[in-house]
Amino acid sequence: MAIQTMKTALLAFGLTVGLASGVGLASGPALAAGEEVDLINEHFHHEGPFGAFDKAAVQRGYQVFTTVCASCHGAKYLAFRNLGEIGYTEDQIKAMASQYTVTDGPNDDGEMFDRPAIASDYFPSPYPNEKAARAANGGAYPPDLSLITKAREHGTDYVYSLMVGYEEAPADVTIGEGMYYNAYFAGHQIGMPQPLYGDDVTYQDGSSSDIHQEAHDVVSFLHWLAEPKLEERKRTGIKAMIFLVIFSGIFYAYKRRVWADLH
Ligand code: HEC
Repeated sequence: MAIQTMKTALLAFGLTVGLASGVGLASGPALAAGEEVDLINEHFHHEGPFGAFDKAAVQRGYQVFTTVCASCHGAKYLAFRNLGEIGYTEDQIKAMASQYTVTDGPNDDGEMFDRPAIASDYFPSPYPNEKAARAANGGAYPPDLSLITKAREHGTDYVYSLMVGYEEAPADVTIGEGMYYNAYFAGHQIGMPQPLYGDDVTYQDGSSSDIHQEAHDVVSFLHWLAEPKLEERKRTGIKAMIFLVIFSGIFYAYKRRVWADLH
């Protein structure tokens, strides 16, 4: 009896570990000011228990992020050297970092100074502080995008939907000054002007840069940024499941032997 209980407990534990570690949740409704809006259910390569990042898409997404989003949004947890994980070489990373300026110091005279970024630097924010960011965006604050896909419910589908969700406002809706109508933003009025239209970048790998591809790629990049250890976590989850299945088998065989002796 005790063994049976233990086995059930182990199985339940295994299932919980397995589910918690990896299997992405399906897309569901997002709450927008009291009403339900169905997000677009975009398929990403990293989804599912065996899903891994599509490095080419993540690289293209980095291109979209730096070309379009980074003029308003920071990504403070992105160190240039991390780009090695998505397939860039050390030389490429050095060259990419050197296009940015970071503040360093103080020097021997006690002064801060600007210098080109190196691989170990973090991606510089476009604004020195939140007040400056708000002042430049009509009072709205462009959040740091490092963790955005995890900070929002169904984050990858949400950000994808947001990117392609700009529409003409319905006739009965009055849009505030400096606001834009978006089908997926809570309350439908967002302070971010439509960032993607398609053909905002020219992809080095020759992929089409229509708005859907750009949105897909930038979300792939943002999710890699928010969860760089996703693949490792899934592998660990699968190993734990295999271990638990084998372990349950051994326990079951053992239980049968114990009970056989008792008959
Ligand atoms: C011109 C500046 C600007 C650009 C360019 C821009 N954004 Fe924004 N973004 C904003 C502002 C301002 C907000 C805050 C909007 C609000 O709270 O009403 C915002 C908010 C967001 C949000 C958060 C929405 C939420 O649920 O709170 C996401 C996600 C986002 N932007 C993604 C992006 C991505 C991805 C790009 C590039 C493809 C991008 N943005 C380009 C200004 C910008």
